[in-house]
Amino acid sequence: YFPERRSCLFICCKTADWLMSQTKHRPQVAIICGSGLGMLADTLKCQDSFAYADIPGFPQSTVQGHAGQLVFGELKGKTCVCMQGRFHMYEGHSLCKTTFPIRVFKLLGVETLIVTNAAGSLADGFQTGDIMIIKDHINFPGLVGLNPLCGPNDDKFGPRFPAMSGCYDKGLRCLAMEIAKELGVASVLQEGVYAMVGGPNFETIAEARLLHRLGVDAVGMSTAPEVVVATHCGLRVFGLSLITNKVVKSYEDTESVNHEGVLEIGRLRSHTIVYIFH
Ligand code: 6GU
Repeated sequence: YFPERRSCLFICCKTADWLMSQTKHRPQVAIICGSGLGMLADTLKCQDSFAYADIPGFPQSTVQGHAGQLVFGELKGKTCVCMQGRFHMYEGHSLCKTTFPIRVFKLLGVETLIVTNAAGSLADGFQTGDIMIIKDHINFPGLVGLNPLCGPNDDKFGPRFPAMSGCYDKGLRCLAMEIAKELGVASVLQEGVYAMVGGPNFETIAEARLLHRLGVDAVGMSTAPEVVVATHCGLRVFGLSLITNKVVKSYEDTESVNHEGVLEIGRLRSHTIVYIFH
């Protein structure tokens, strides 16, 4: 990963400059739309959209259910940029590539990053369709050295050894809970710990039991690297996991998870997510 990381600042600057030459929008907020949650971007006003394939330096997305474009626009008077489709480690992208957009957003002047994802639940009280405010994460690939910050540090973005305690902003988490109560959707809102695993296979029952015993509430295959890079460069982060399925933890259970089911719940619940954001 290292040679790529060395040229990252240079390429990020070129990408940010190109985007600023193509749109008048100067976003304060960036939103990453997870599997099946892309319709939030469709609700932006005065849109300027750019397919990833047309953006200099941008990686290409390969997953079904992810459109693969950046959408700039206004959401409730705030200028936003939405990623419709993200880059995953399991697609074969280096972590430098999966987190590349975060640094571009930083250079565009973004101050707050909102991450969303689809996740399976391990917590006993969670139901399919619940929305979990991410309180903290366990970055399993990161714990064994698969970390986007590996390699020479770009001091212009942040320190060599960044703190990750408090990386999911407490003020934003409290605000989201208050808004959900006001809107009457608090019954589907949860708060918990998200764990990233590498994927692309879903967990075995033994792995699911292990995660449960470790205090994981929801598991998915994204988000942690993006949040690490965002926190490193001083962005305020807010995260939501849409619970698309319960992770099978019992050998008696005959149901198993599949990607189509994950996307379907995303589409069904995305109106609630859009409602909360508006
Ligand atoms: Cl059950 N596991 C993982 N790793 N990611 C998921 C999921 C499960 N459900 C949605 N995304």
